[in-house]
Amino acid sequence: MISIIICSVVFLLAAYALVAYIRRKNTTPDYTGKTVWITGASSGIGEHLAYEFNSHGAHVILSARNLAELKRVQESCPHPERAEIAKLDMTNYEEIDAVSKEVIRKLEAEGKKIDVLV
Ligand SMILES: NC(=O)c1ccc[n+]([C@@H]2O[C@H](COP(=O)([O-])OP(=O)(O)OC[C@H]3O[C@@H](n4cnc5c(N)ncnc54)[C@H](OP(=O)(O)O)[C@@H]3O)[C@@H](O)[C@H]2O)c1
Repeated sequence: MISIIICSVVFLLAAYALVAYIRRKNTTPDYTGKTVWITGASSGIGEHLAYEFNSHGAHVILSARNLAELKRVQESCPHPERAEIAKLDMTNYEEIDAVSKEVIRKLEAEGKKIDVLV
């Protein structure tokens, strides 16, 4: 009788663990192979979005005006090898045009594109 109870408990725990694993796997975002360009990435919301996207597989492009802060964020990314900097002042339209073209040119040369723009 005791062995039946123990087997039932073990079975229920295993079933619970399996369901929890499947749910976690299906709800964890996967940005592997995706490129995410984040403006305002040197602090606040943009900085932490960079860490999140990077930790979920994305190659992140970090933009803002403060290069020292962008380097700090790049180095703090969970996978800094998948983080690059594109210094950019969003109020300077000529700079937006030039930097965007350069970023897109580099990505296209690697067969990539911008998948998400923040
Ligand atoms: N924090 C909140 O709870 C909250 C809630 C709702 C809405 N928001 C809004 O969300 C936005 C971000 O908030 P936050 O708390 O993350 O602010 P934050 O820490 O001040 O971040 C702003 C970011 O924008 C960049 N930035 C500012 N001017 C720029 C420019 N001309 N060109 C390029 N980058 C520029 C800054 O970098 P550089 O200075 O290096 O350029 C910085 O990386 C704000 O508009 C805020 O009003 C925030």
